Amino acid sequence: MFQERVLSGMRPTGALHLGHYYGVLKNWVRLQAEYPCFFFVADWHALTTHYEDTGIIEESVWEMQVDWLAAGVDPTQATLFIQSRVPEHAELFLLLSMGTPLGWLERVPTYKDQIEKLKDKDLSTYGFLGYPMMMAADILIYRALHVPVGEDQIPHIEITREIARRFNYLYGREPGFEEKALEAAKKLGGKRTKLYLELRNEYQEQGKEEALEQARALLSDSQSLSMGDRERLFGYLEGSCKIILIEPQAMLTKEARMPGLDGNKMSKSYGNAIALREDKDSIMKKVRTMPTDPARVRRTDPGDPEKCPVWQLHKVYSDDATRDWAQKGCRSAGIGCLECKQPVIESILREQQPIMERAQKYLDDPSLLRAIVADGCDKARKVAQETMREVRESLGLSYS
Ligand code: TRP
Ligand code: SF4
Repeated sequence: MFQERVLSGMRPTGALHLGHYYGVLKNWVRLQAEYPCFFFVADWHALTTHYEDTGIIEESVWEMQVDWLAAGVDPTQATLFIQSRVPEHAELFLLLSMGTPLGWLERVPTYKDQIEKLKDKDLSTYGFLGYPMMMAADILIYRALHVPVGEDQIPHIEITREIARRFNYLYGREPGFEEKALEAAKKLGGKRTKLYLELRNEYQEQGKEEALEQARALLSDSQSLSMGDRERLFGYLEGSCKIILIEPQAMLTKEARMPGLDGNKMSKSYGNAIALREDKDSIMKKVRTMPTDPARVRRTDPGDPEKCPVWQLHKVYSDDATRDWAQKGCRSAGIGCLECKQPVIESILREQQPIMERAQKYLDDPSLLRAIVADGCDKARKVAQETMREVRESLGLSYS
């Protein structure tokens, strides 16, 4: 129940490119071996900005998941699903919205930024303001501990933590909490009861973080507790209310900055991207027409790799020997730019080959992907439903 679950989502707004591959997907592939991972298509999120042109969302939902699988996300390890297929997200979103102060949402830095940046869209909508709260619901409903995100999303994790804390504070209080918690501790049994109480003391009196971690692990391992007792014991470690929704941690993906064809960060909106699955001829053409150091007007003019976006790609794709060859050849005008680009082209094509092969299986038989996702949605829904039962009960909405 309180496993160290990892959750992350991506908006379906077009084909993925090498920036996503280096910045996000490689990380997901690494994580899936270590944690139970839930990866989902955030289609409702895409609606917050694309509510007027939903066509791109429909196209991208499946294509994007083919990209994930092609990049090496393994459906036997990770759970893949689509947000809108788990309508419980919307229920939690609604319930959280009741107690979330408007100011918290207005102060999220991306809120005003994006309204400024995406001037061609009218984002003065209720949905766009509420978007970080929807993200909070996405995360909290799976009781995920780790959320891999880029730097720009950190404030959203922060607000998620605040929302969880407030929820637990409002709905996790109960008369006689301490007695109930002690009762629950007894149910851990003998040594475990004693250990739990000792660890709690160490944390509360000496602030030892390791003691808190250890106590949490102890609770996670004990199978016999009821849900309510578990929430009490988690809550008793730190304070005086039940912990119904867990505060997640941002797992910062260290910025693997993938340079685009013009040297700026790769991004679809800059038109400088190479797709994760791009046609061979198109890749060759794109790299061959990349700008280089402007000082190299003629083949005989020496250049400076630091002023050239091709060199940025060598840094990602080439081994030391090739880099050395490119550096020297550039500075001495010993090689031409087309020659210099060739090893980069070859490396990109070599990288794409297994990606293309993995994708082919799903392109040949679309029902394979539908089955994987149907299965993932079922799994996700089970977890989400369980959380919602607890949430409704805490709010006094179960009317039993
Ligand atoms: N907001 C994220 C983005 O724009 C996508 C997202 C939605 C997400 N819900 C999430 C990421 C939950 C992590 C966890 O990239
Ligand atoms: Fe760039 Fe290579 Fe040409 Fe030098 S030789 S300018 S690094 S493409």
